[in-house]
Amino acid sequence: MTKKPITLITGTRKGIGRYLVEHYVRQGHIVIGCSRSDIDWSLVGYQHFIADVTDESAVKKIFSYIRKTHGRLDNLINNAGIASMNHIALTPLSTVNDILGTNVVGTFLFCREASKLMSKHRYGRIINFTTVATPLKLEGEAIYAASKAGIKSLTEVMARELAALGITVNAIGPTPIETDLIRSVPKEKMSRLISRQAIPRMGTFEDVANTIDFYIKKESDFVTGQNIYLGGVS
Ligand SMILES: NC(=O)c1ccc[n+]([C@@H]2O[C@H](COP(=O)([O-])OP(=O)(O)OC[C@H]3O[C@@H](n4cnc5c(N)ncnc54)[C@H](OP(=O)(O)O)[C@@H]3O)[C@@H](O)[C@H]2O)c1
Repeated sequence: MTKKPITLITGTRKGIGRYLVEHYVRQGHIVIGCSRSDIDWSLVGYQHFIADVTDESAVKKIFSYIRKTHGRLDNLINNAGIASMNHIALTPLSTVNDILGTNVVGTFLFCREASKLMSKHRYGRIINFTTVATPLKLEGEAIYAASKAGIKSLTEVMARELAALGITVNAIGPTPIETDLIRSVPKEKMSRLISRQAIPRMGTFEDVANTIDFYIKKESDFVTGQNIYLGGVS
């Protein structure tokens, strides 16, 4: 069994997740990831699974692979997430179920399975994804913001439940970052949003990786239940 850190990242086909795969492979981690569609790229040190994070049996298969192949999991980064910009009066129930399913249920399933594997070695780092859309109370993003508020709450409670097992649970809430997730947001709405940040600029992949680097350091074992919003949003 290898001594390299074993890191599981969800939602790795594109966007922030793909960047994080490259970032942690570069740092010598063995990285495992998943997305609903297959990837059109590959990287030595990275193992991809086609899996929907809401599919409990698919999630269990990933953990079974990690247990058999590596025997442990050091870091879980729950990056997979979807959004939909809709006025509440125009939001179909199917959209609500999709967003809550991927963002909240998906995060829960990975946290639950990770907690069992991490507890065997009494060590683990779990990172969840929130968003500044929640504290900024963004119109048009009620369900997305609510789903991420749910993730913030999950993070805070799980941090207390898992502390005695040597597992920390924290969250990062990015500002807008140039990915497909926000492509449909009108430019003018985006400028108004960014002007409400203490530091009024778009976020970058590096901003996200830097925060996660801090959370997953071995020395960060006294940091849990926290959520860091980027850009000075609170
Ligand atoms: N970009 C921003 O401005 C921003 C701001 C705040 C927070 N965030 C958060 O950052 C995270 C990453 O966002 P992003 O901007 O990188 O989004 P993105 O470019 O749309 O990428 C989302 C990734 O998640 C995967 N995914 C989506 N649903 C999935 C599911 N049910 N099961 C498995 N994989 C799934 C997608 O691949 P498949 O389509 O192949 O499944 C894709 O790889 C999300 O949690 C998002 O809420 C982003």
